[in-house]
Amino acid sequence: MKIIRSIREMQQYANELKMSGKSIGFVPTMGFLHEGHESLMKRAKTNNDIVIVSIFVNPLQFGPNEDFDRYPRDEEHDILVAQKNNIDILFIPQVEEMYPNDRSITMDITKRTDVLCGRSRVGHFAGVITVLTKLFHLTLPSQAYFGLKDAQQFAVVDALVNDLNFPIELVPVTTVREQDGLAKSSRNVYLSEPERQEATALYQGLQFGRQLVETGTRDPDYIVNEVERFINSQTRGKIDYVELLSYPDLTPVDEVNEQVILAVAVFYEHARLIDNLIFDQNGKLTLDR
Ligand code: PAJ
Repeated sequence: MKIIRSIREMQQYANELKMSGKSIGFVPTMGFLHEGHESLMKRAKTNNDIVIVSIFVNPLQFGPNEDFDRYPRDEEHDILVAQKNNIDILFIPQVEEMYPNDRSITMDITKRTDVLCGRSRVGHFAGVITVLTKLFHLTLPSQAYFGLKDAQQFAVVDALVNDLNFPIELVPVTTVREQDGLAKSSRNVYLSEPERQEATALYQGLQFGRQLVETGTRDPDYIVNEVERFINSQTRGKIDYVELLSYPDLTPVDEVNEQVILAVAVFYEHARLIDNLIFDQNGKLTLDR
């Protein structure tokens, strides 16, 4: 496995690979790699000649009161995980080289961000698409892999690639969960033991909501209320939102008669957890692969 830290080296190497006709699969991450990330890597390995994984904790996507400085980092562990998964190139750029000056160009998103996490995390998705635009230019992938755990991120990146004509196929990957259903996340390490026990309420609440649709309920407000009631009864975590929207457009629906996302965010003392399910009008999970 080749570890590349310089932007110029990454771009030259990607160019050479491209010229020699190799297909490049790209898995962007912020490190502290877990089985969720590994699932993206494994998918990328089966479909591409070369897989590039990037590790970059992107300051642009953290708000002033968010956890950039204390976001968990463990490069040694990450290198081992990447090696174990036979990753060809691990790209670890430095903040100073990625953002050397005050930027002259900013990216503005006009849809898909005024709901869910975008509502409270102002500027977050602009930071995400800015870094991804840079990383796509540096790694020249034909496919890029994203987890559906961050389904709003997938929807926004889908808009980026379509609106700006990136020649990249986005591959959505099913959320990897702990045995009790909690979605794997780098932020789970911040949960206290009792919080960890209760945090399974997010997934259970989502399944409860999905089952309401499966048994014929179509009213989004009713479903959202029931899911909130369920989660509040199972955990002392504070609900940030429960929302049911069309997917990937992320617009309100009057009734569930198309592909929708049921998504939740819950605050614990030191972590905010998110989770979602995407399903059709019969409550059948879609996009899950
Ligand atoms: P990060 O949170 O490190 O996640 C990297 C990728 O792993 C994302 O596509 C995310 O959806 C996926 N992922 C995380 N947990 C997962 C799980 N339990 N199951 C499946 N996939 C999972 O998302 C980011 O980094 C950043 O915003 C990034 C895209 C790298 C831009 O900075």
